[in-house]
Formats: sequence, C-alpha cells, structure tokens
Amino acid sequence: RPGQNHHPAGPSTPPSSPPTQSLSIQRQLYERDFPLYKQPVEVGHFSLDSERRFFNDARQLRYYVEPEKSCPNFDLRDGYRGRFVKRDDRVKEKLDHILRWILANRSKLQSKDTAASSSPCALGVDIVTWRGHLTKLLTTPYETREGWLLAVTRMGGTLYISEVETEAARRDRENRTERHEEMMYWGYKFEQYTCADDAQSLPDPGGVVNTNEAFCTVVQTRLAEHRLLFSGEVDCRDKDPKAPSPPANYIEMKTSLEISTPKQRSNFHRFKLLKWWAQSFLPGVPRIVAGFRDHDGVVVSVETYHISKISQLIKNETNCWKPTVCMNFCCEFLSFVKSVVTEDDPRVVHLFSWDPHRDVTYSIHRDSQYSFLPDWYVREMTS
Ligand code: A3P
Ligand code: MG
Ligand code: MG
Repeated sequence: RPGQNHHPAGPSTPPSSPPTQSLSIQRQLYERDFPLYKQPVEVGHFSLDSERRFFNDARQLRYYVEPEKSCPNFDLRDGYRGRFVKRDDRVKEKLDHILRWILANRSKLQSKDTAASSSPCALGVDIVTWRGHLTKLLTTPYETREGWLLAVTRMGGTLYISEVETEAARRDRENRTERHEEMMYWGYKFEQYTCADDAQSLPDPGGVVNTNEAFCTVVQTRLAEHRLLFSGEVDCRDKDPKAPSPPANYIEMKTSLEISTPKQRSNFHRFKLLKWWAQSFLPGVPRIVAGFRDHDGVVVSVETYHISKISQLIKNETNCWKPTVCMNFCCEFLSFVKSVVTEDDPRVVHLFSWDPHRDVTYSIHRDSQYSFLPDWYVREMTS
C-alpha cells in the first residue's frame, strides 16, 4: 500500500497487515493525554576514561560543588589553548559502549518477570539506544533546522536504534568556525569549575579538560507499551551522602547566554528549555544547574531549574512546545518502528530518515555500511 501514512490516533493496525510507509510529525496529531512514562530506574552505569576506554564502574562520576558567589565570574575561555584534550568526533562509536555494558550485566537484565513469562525477547526490553537519540525524537515535532537518520536492527526480539550522521551534520562538523569550536569547550569548562572528583574535595579549574571522559547511567523504563533500556551521560551528582538514590541525585550542567531582553527570554523558553527538558526528563534527572555567560565566556549568574517545574515556567509563552506532544510523538515513532522492523537479523538495517517539514520515511539495507551490531556482540548474544 504505497504512500499509506501511519496514523497515530487511528485504530491500531492488525499485526498481519503490511506496515505503513511513513509517519507524520504534525503536532496536532500528538496533542492528547500524556502517555504513561514509568519512573526511570538506574540498572547500572559505566565510565569512559581519558582515552575513551570502557569501565563497568562509576570512576568518572563527579560531585557538584555549589559556587561560592551567585556571580562567580568563571572564565570559560581559560585553558582552551593548552589544557584541553578534545574527543575525536570523527570516530563513530555507535552503540558499542552500551553493548559492552549489556554483555557485562546480562544477569541483572533478565529479571524474574521476564524469565517467568514466555517472552520471545531475550533481553526483556523492546528498545536499546542512547538517551541522546531519544532526545532528538522528543524534540522532532518542534525542530525546523536539523533532520536525522536512525538505523534500526532487530535481534533477539529487541530493537537497537543507532544514529547515523547526516550529510548536513558532517558538513557542519567539518566547517565549524574557530569561534564555534571554542564555544563548544565552554560547557565542559563550566563543569570543571563546579565539579569535584569526590564528595570531600573541591573543583580543580587548573586541570586539563578532557572530553573523552564520561560517566554514563543506564536506565530502564517504559513509555506506554515500549520497554526501554538506554544510557546517557551524567555530568555530576549531589555530594550530600543523604541525597536520594540515582538517578534522583544526578545534576545536569548547562551554559547559556545571559538573558537581557524579553525576546531573549522568550527564545530561551521556546527553544533551549525544550532541549534541556527533553534531555533530563528522559533519564529522570531532576535538576539542571545553568551558568549564564556573557559574549566573552564569563559566567555572570548561576541558576537551578527543576525539571518538574519547567512545564509551568513555559505555560505563558505563546507558540510554545508541549511535553505531551514530544512524548506522544516518540511513542508513536517507536510503534511505527516496531511495525516496520519485523525481520530479526543483525545484518539488516532499516534506516529511518527525517528532514524538517517532511514525514518520517525509511529504507532497507542488508549487509551494508549501515550494519552496526558488532560481531563480538552478535556472537555472544546468539551463543
Ligand atoms: P552546554 O551544556 O553548556 O551547552 P551536555 O550539556 O549535554 O552535558 O554537554 C556538555 C557540553 O558539550 C555542552 O555544554 C557543549 O559545550 C558541548 N556540546 C554538547 N552537545 C553539543 C552539540 N550538539 N554541539 C556542540 N556542542 C555540544
Ligand atoms: Mg554532559
Ligand atoms: Mg551538561
């Protein structure tokens, strides 16, 4: 049935009928009740060291230290030349770190209820992906500039979703201005001013900023009928030993240009808070600490945002985003993927593609450049 569109609000498609060809992103289709989103549970974590090596532990987790003054005057440009080791972003790691974590923690995943039920799904989850890929899905109904490509493979009943860099994104990456390159450093520098290696020590602004280093949480949750397992980088945690257990003790650090006009405030609410909300809401990170900076990269104020209060904050904004549209679209996309990707084969990739002002479409690739599940993972999971 060529050209047939997947209708989100319509009656569910019987399992035997052929999948629809595209998914509409029109916002009004997704303006309904907020879907069930279970409180995310941390099932594990891992660390990537200064050389991007994987460790099945929390060695890279840092501790938030509140700045002494409300106007801290952190100079985010400091160390850009001389004390900065930048991760090589030409290297595409795909899902490899998450897959490594899965192999090291398989026993924790195959929970009792999964073992008891006659689930055809070996891992006990429907979707494995990065939090960042889900963030892109959540913001898609409001995105007007950047499209995306998501490669999907079904293996053992689980759908693995891994991003593919678009041509446009590759061009942008290869043609960044010197100013843009430096500004990408500022966010990491802010983390260095506010995060310490353990609960007792202080931040070390004189050290090296190395963006290979990361601490990642692995969470399990459910979006309507979709059981999700995903991982996301976490900037730091609350250092109070009495703080709640993860992910409720995690804190996301952000920087943004200081707000000085009503127009700037409105744009901050409409565009930046959408991305900030989506990124932290997904893994259940409750707080964002934002450093507002001037054009020279000096932080002039620091503010805390509670994720649960962001929807209130934006309510008076005209033409603003709605959390329910984001979540319903993501849910519908996952249903669309499930209906399309029925062949269970690590060598087959369905490449889902979206450009602003278009529907989501897909193409099928067997033994292609898009295959992303490594042999070491397939071998281990099928033995
Ligand atoms: P900001 O958060 O202050 O923008 P994250 O906030 O997700 O922990 O990312 C840390 C920093 O990485 C960001 O700081 C920004 O400097 C850089 N960064 C992250 N994603 C980026 C992107 N898509 N493009 C450019 N820089 C990015
Ligand atoms: Mg981060
Ligand atoms: Mg951050």
